Amino acid sequence: MRPTRNHWGIIGPIPHSEFEPESIRAKIRANPLLAGVDADAVKPRVMTLTQSTYDGVLYNTEEIKSLLDGYVDNLHFDEAWLPHAAFHPFYGTYHAMGRKRGRTKHSVTYATQSIHKLLAGISQASHVLVQDPRM
Ligand SMILES: Cc1ncc(COP(=O)(O)O)c(C=O)c1O
Repeated sequence: MRPTRNHWGIIGPIPHSEFEPESIRAKIRANPLLAGVDADAVKPRVMTLTQSTYDGVLYNTEEIKSLLDGYVDNLHFDEAWLPHAAFHPFYGTYHAMGRKRGRTKHSVTYATQSIHKLLAGISQASHVLVQDPRM
């Protein structure tokens, strides 16, 4: 998924249209390394998204889940810098999962969080949160 760039070349947000399955299918069709792959039949195995970039760009994960649930097998939100989001209402649905949040019906959702970045002293500790709709 291609992000925007400003006139200094600095990477900005990924436009909504990039998350649409038809846009992903078009990239599969156009990729010479995937010649012979039927873009209409194949399903991507994983989407990995930096959820909070160093510039603080956050995505509405409910919107992304609703677009890609069942099309991409695994939805991975790299929340290295965002482990605190579930603990404050300010972040709303701009983080992958929380106690009162809906779940995907088909795709497995992952949030990887570097709690060592939030809680200095837990040396090098990170965790992987997984929501598997089959469990
Ligand atoms: C966006 C992002 N993802 C992943 C990592 C690596 O995470 P960890 O230190 O938990 O291995 C970093 C580390 O700085 C990061 O900034």
